[in-house]
Amino acid sequence: MNHYKKQIFITFLAGIMFCQLAAAEPTGERLKNLAEPLGILIGFAAPNNFTVMSDSIVYQQVAASEFNLVTPENAMKLDAIVPSEGQYNFGNGDILVRFAQAYGMQVHGHTLIWHSAQPRWLTILNRDMLIDAMNNVIDVILNHYKGQILAWDVVNEAFNEDGTYRASFWNNTIGEDYIDRAFLRCRQADPAAKLFYNDYNIEEINQKSDGVYKMVRSMILRGIPIDGIGIQMHITDQGIDYQSFADNMARFAALGLEIYISEMDVRIPVGYNVEIDLEHQAEIYREVIQRCVAQPACKAIQFWGIPDKYSWVPSVFPGTGVPLLFDDDYNAKPAYYAVQEVLADATPIPTPGPV
Ligand code: XIL
Repeated sequence: MNHYKKQIFITFLAGIMFCQLAAAEPTGERLKNLAEPLGILIGFAAPNNFTVMSDSIVYQQVAASEFNLVTPENAMKLDAIVPSEGQYNFGNGDILVRFAQAYGMQVHGHTLIWHSAQPRWLTILNRDMLIDAMNNVIDVILNHYKGQILAWDVVNEAFNEDGTYRASFWNNTIGEDYIDRAFLRCRQADPAAKLFYNDYNIEEINQKSDGVYKMVRSMILRGIPIDGIGIQMHITDQGIDYQSFADNMARFAALGLEIYISEMDVRIPVGYNVEIDLEHQAEIYREVIQRCVAQPACKAIQFWGIPDKYSWVPSVFPGTGVPLLFDDDYNAKPAYYAVQEVLADATPIPTPGPV
């Protein structure tokens, strides 16, 4: 390459770097700093390739400045970690854990026992084999990440909308006690990790959250270890019944459980109005986060992504999109400022004074 071409190339590279670094900082204090005195962690779901995307620099910059909790969007699902029997692939999960450690973030492990994202080899085992495989997989994964994961989603989405148990292959092959077994094994494998049950459409008091409530109350009465409930919060522009959400959190809190808002996004119909609809979305975020800060057991708020462009929403809920706090260029949206304001206005937990 001659000198001139080299110059152009270097200018071009510098231009790319500059664009990547130039995401406008939101005004005001960063979310994690506002949430910390409230005893609330602020998290995001990171896609598999978050270190090698074309805009990874700015992505990681926003991640590191705003959040102190990260969860893998897909990297720790069983089809990713153990695609075939005995063959473990921790690559993407390890990258995420190292990133978290470098920036002083906690890691929320997501997710072990689920009906979806499971490798085929697991789904065709008989009962004894599946119980063995479940124990093995839990032992290997929790040992691998011992001391590095704050909380694990042990079981994900085990209920139907009417509050009955989902007929997953886990349930069909082992029976409903697969849930007890999974929690017991996780506690044994990593006694320091918090163990969570995670689900969607359990924000309000309804048949499904009643089913989950009965299950966890029974687990606690029977001494099955469970520390928290993840309420996913994938919601629409209709919002939710916020009083019912508060009442629902209160009944789980009364059982001594922690509550995480684990996967929040608020999808709105495409063709939205930038002024009106993004403000409306911000109000929904505001209402939800207000209920969390008012409930002492609500210990974490995770958003299911950072910029809208990487959200799972448009592919799964066609006709809707832009559900997150940052737009495609990493500019903070009205929703961001609503969350920021609620956190800033909340009363910090009193720190214990001298005895
Ligand atoms: C989603 C991811 O966001 C997608 O990338 C993937 O294709 C499917 O799973 N509930 C959960 C999450 O517990 O694991 C799901 O994540 C979203 C719904």
